[in-house]
Amino acid sequence: MINVAVIGTGAISSRHLQAYLTFAQECTIKRVADIDLAKAEKSISENQLDAMASDDYKTIIEDRSIDLVSICTPPSTHAEIAIACLEAGKHVLVEKPMAASLEDCDKMIAAAQENGRLLSVVAQNRFQSSWMKLKKLLDEQAAGRVLHAQINSYWWRGLSYYDLWWRGTWESEGGGCTLNHAVHHIDALQWMMGLPTEVHAMMSNVAHQNAEVEDISMALLRFESGALGQITSSVVHHGQEQQLVFQCERGKLSAPWDLYGSIAKENGFPQRDAQLESEIQEAYDSQDEVSYEGHTGQIENVLSAIAGQSELLVTGEEGRRTLELITAIYASASRGIRVDLPLDSDDPFYTKRGLLESVPHFYEKSASVKDFEANEITTKGNY
Ligand SMILES: NC(=O)c1ccc[n+]([C@@H]2O[C@H](COP(=O)([O-])OP(=O)(O)OC[C@H]3O[C@@H](n4cnc5c(N)ncnc54)[C@H](O)[C@@H]3O)[C@@H](O)[C@H]2O)c1
Repeated sequence: MINVAVIGTGAISSRHLQAYLTFAQECTIKRVADIDLAKAEKSISENQLDAMASDDYKTIIEDRSIDLVSICTPPSTHAEIAIACLEAGKHVLVEKPMAASLEDCDKMIAAAQENGRLLSVVAQNRFQSSWMKLKKLLDEQAAGRVLHAQINSYWWRGLSYYDLWWRGTWESEGGGCTLNHAVHHIDALQWMMGLPTEVHAMMSNVAHQNAEVEDISMALLRFESGALGQITSSVVHHGQEQQLVFQCERGKLSAPWDLYGSIAKENGFPQRDAQLESEIQEAYDSQDEVSYEGHTGQIENVLSAIAGQSELLVTGEEGRRTLELITAIYASASRGIRVDLPLDSDDPFYTKRGLLESVPHFYEKSASVKDFEANEITTKGNY
């Protein structure tokens, strides 16, 4: 039996708690902690847990019976808490974004390696059938090589979103929509295509006069293969129509699932390739559906990896790669120049301090509320 603890019992924590409860044969939730003890106690009663509440995560560090910790606290706290857990011999599942800097990611990865523990970073959208199937078709080059990738990480958030106490500052949230919303789609891009070698980006804050951070960024990418890509990260897009679109040599593959094949007529003009489309559709349909989606799917993977039965799908190294691309977008947009990957550890953007000294402050945070009554959360688009 794997003994579990959850640190931070705000909006996202119930996804973790409910997922652990799904696997009651494999694990038991023993402890929850939040700096606000009342929230920890509320999560115990709401989720009907037989667990202890505390207002200090160190009680979890000190409890030798805890094997696995989910960290669901604001981004700026992830590294400190994760490293303390790993050094105390616990496996860690940390919410996205992995940390506020690449330096912190490297310290977390080192702590996991030195203590022989597993470190996984939440990327729950990977655990859905449509993305798994798309990834496999891209790996198999079902429509040929990828020539162009288009990542539309379109979200919409009103002004009050940035009033939550830890949001809207570079110090505490770590960044704006590129880091905190597009992280899901940027993770998907690097998972499906690897990292680009060049990034050119611009960012702005066009509609949130109460936040230091960006509410839109656009990045152009070049991959080693010669393919180009583009990522739009936004919280000003009405309707939140999120998409991953891969233009390959012989056809387009995308999520939400869509497919279009072309062949050239004698004069080079396009003709729809119905044969290719039916072959690819068959390959898509013949793949298994995932057993569990979202956080439940990722937590199943983590529990199974701890038991030695599966490979961990989203490792610390994977979480770091996603943060490296996000950091390169911030570096390029802040400096107004092209940034090459991999980023060196002597680049100012490698550290949180260097990032804080280099990024633009669009506006000052104007309000700070402790909690919203509506504790709702959206974790994915409609795929
Ligand atoms: N995977 C997803 O789709 C998804 C969606 C939303 C949020 N998140 C991530 O989850 C994390 C939490 O976000 P949220 O929306 O639940 O925020 P939240 O503010 O609702 O909850 C965070 C909780 O952490 C507690 N906390 C803060 N510092 C702490 C500390 N040092 N020790 C113990 N508790 C502490 C707060 O009191 C609060 O209850 C963030 O990293 C966020 O980016 C992920």
